[in-house]
Amino acid sequence: MQDALNQIHAAALTALTAVKTLDALESLRVQYFGRNGQLTTVMKGMGKLSKAERPVVGKLANQIRAELNEAFERTAQELQRQQQLQQLADESVDITLPGRKPAYGKAHPVMQSLERITSIFTQMGFQIATGPEVETDYYNFDALNTPSDHPARDLHDTFYLTDGHLLRTHTSPVQIRAMEQQPPPVRIIVPGKAYRVDYDVSHTPMFHQVEGLLVDTHVTFSELKGILTSFARQLFGADTQMRFRPHFFPFTEPSAEVDISCTVCGGEGCRSCGGTGWIEILGAGAVDPEVFHAVGYEPEQVTGFAFGMGVERIANLQFRIPDIRTFYENDLRFLRQF
Ligand code: DAH
Repeated sequence: MQDALNQIHAAALTALTAVKTLDALESLRVQYFGRNGQLTTVMKGMGKLSKAERPVVGKLANQIRAELNEAFERTAQELQRQQQLQQLADESVDITLPGRKPAYGKAHPVMQSLERITSIFTQMGFQIATGPEVETDYYNFDALNTPSDHPARDLHDTFYLTDGHLLRTHTSPVQIRAMEQQPPPVRIIVPGKAYRVDYDVSHTPMFHQVEGLLVDTHVTFSELKGILTSFARQLFGADTQMRFRPHFFPFTEPSAEVDISCTVCGGEGCRSCGGTGWIEILGAGAVDPEVFHAVGYEPEQVTGFAFGMGVERIANLQFRIPDIRTFYENDLRFLRQF
């Protein structure tokens, strides 16, 4: 029996040196110390020994058990330490590696222009107003003095939806909505999207406009000229010249198309301005009394002016882009330049 004990002792110590994981250690523990473990089994057999043998073998058995226990404990500690070291190594961060730069987004060039235009007018005291892009016939046309048989409707190439709805062809309907909601005075600027069935170097089906409206008791055309001139000089430079050409819009009377001196040649005449020295940037005029009627304002008591401009056209001039369709092709190599 002593031989058996010594063999178990030696075998267990050898097995311990081969153990690589805590799980393996646990099964080894069961193999020796478990209910049917080798050591347990031998010790159970001690009852059969003679009185003389029992204390000697008992002492040896206890000693071996204690030693093995200690060896198991030491191995457990060593394995735990290794496991921790491995975990630390796995989770370690190399602080000498260069950082990863987050990819910053930035405003689309058209948005940059839109924000610049809007901020020039808000600094002059205009408030930002917005309205729906899905409009009714009434707000987009009728209330703006453009009845359904009016020839000006043909110029708009409207996207019609169902039930008298359409995609607004300009931001002008917001004039009507704003005046319906408040009594005069009104001083608003309306940045937003508009839609027309159109696609060439200077037109995309979706585009942006900025509308302006000022209504008060004694508003005159010269104030309109003053405000637009100040705007154009802030945007295109202090020596920008202005030209107001008579024009027709259903919702203003008189109406004008407004040109600035060419941003490329300064007025000499070049390819960009078709040799004229002038570039058209917006439409404007004094609010037509019919528009005031539509919103319940008294044309005898108030006057006003309105204007509207295409933002892509302005961005075009600011950034010298020959084809505005490139704004919407989402080519990052193009967009990153701004
Ligand atoms: N709504 C016009 C367009 O889309 C632009 C415009 C012209 C707006 C004259 C105005 C204005 O407010 O007075 O072509």
